[in-house]
Amino acid sequence: MQKKITVLPGDGIGPEVVQAAIKVLETIGEKFNHQFEFTYAKLGGVAIDDCGVPLPEETVEVCKSSDSVLLGAVGGPKWDNLPGHLRPEKGLLGIRKELNLFANLRPVSGHASLSDASTLRKEVIDGVDLMIVRELTGGLYFGEPSERREEDGEEVVVDTLYYKRSEIERIIKKAFELASVRRKKVTSVDKANVLESSRVWREVAEEVGKEYPDIELEHMLVDNAAMQLIRNPKQFDVMVTENMFGDILSDEASMLTGSLGMLPSASIGSDGPGLYEPIHGSAPDIAGQNKANPLATIASTAMMLRYSFGMQAEADAIEKAISEVLENGYRTGDIAESGKDVLNTEEMTAKVIEYLK
Ligand code: IPM
Ligand code: MG
Repeated sequence: MQKKITVLPGDGIGPEVVQAAIKVLETIGEKFNHQFEFTYAKLGGVAIDDCGVPLPEETVEVCKSSDSVLLGAVGGPKWDNLPGHLRPEKGLLGIRKELNLFANLRPVSGHASLSDASTLRKEVIDGVDLMIVRELTGGLYFGEPSERREEDGEEVVVDTLYYKRSEIERIIKKAFELASVRRKKVTSVDKANVLESSRVWREVAEEVGKEYPDIELEHMLVDNAAMQLIRNPKQFDVMVTENMFGDILSDEASMLTGSLGMLPSASIGSDGPGLYEPIHGSAPDIAGQNKANPLATIASTAMMLRYSFGMQAEADAIEKAISEVLENGYRTGDIAESGKDVLNTEEMTAKVIEYLK
């Protein structure tokens, strides 16, 4: 097959981890006889520096005309004091919206060999295998108004949690579809004891659930879900939730695997290119030092192969190579035990490629 991939390296460690992922994709191309064509475009701080805006029009066009998009990370202290609409993060939100990527899939499964890297006890996390399905183009992140204004001589501020029923319906359907090929359980996470938006969310989940009689549906309040994730994460299969709840819960869930540096994500819509990125940020403190853990970005390419290109065997091969590298004790700094050898970004990438071959 021939596929066009747009690469958005972004800021901080973004370019390093993306380079690692491209090397792995090239190896897959050779091994399975595919041609991947890479086109680079700018997003985030680097786009602000070079083009004056976090999401240049040209970047949107290139992404739209490709089969899939690979993203590193955006943001950094250099751009922290810019006004909201000019921040690097706005570029990321913009591209999600432009490509209509309403579903963000964040799988969390521990590698047994890494259970010592987590701050949680081994018996709590061994065997965790869950998927957070986060709504990505609505809710608090996009609702209008979102502004400061003056009322009665005082500054007031408002953000808006806005959803159309159809937007809730499509993300919950996506969760049920995913659960149907997993362990057949959906946990819908909301704050229905307080928020009207959550009460509608719950209603829609019930309605959609009726179309999937063989899948168990449970509702959980978000504060309880945060607690249950740490107390007994193995109870979860698919968790589906509103944009901001999903943002928070997925960082929390990453700790079940020991490091934020391990978790991939896929952002997909109903058609058109998907966007694949590690869930970690741009880690400006270690940028450019060849220290970053590339595994989350490499695992994100496995999700790209699986969800955008239907290449199951290729995706499995990458995931298997990552597992084997870890089982054989190879570690980057973020997941290393003290006193053990640490691989840099390039060495870790080379190991994955060695096991792939
Ligand atoms: C994430 C990130 C982003 C988000 C930021 C960088 C805007 O935290 O992908 O989880 O909040 O969605
Ligand atoms: Mg986040």
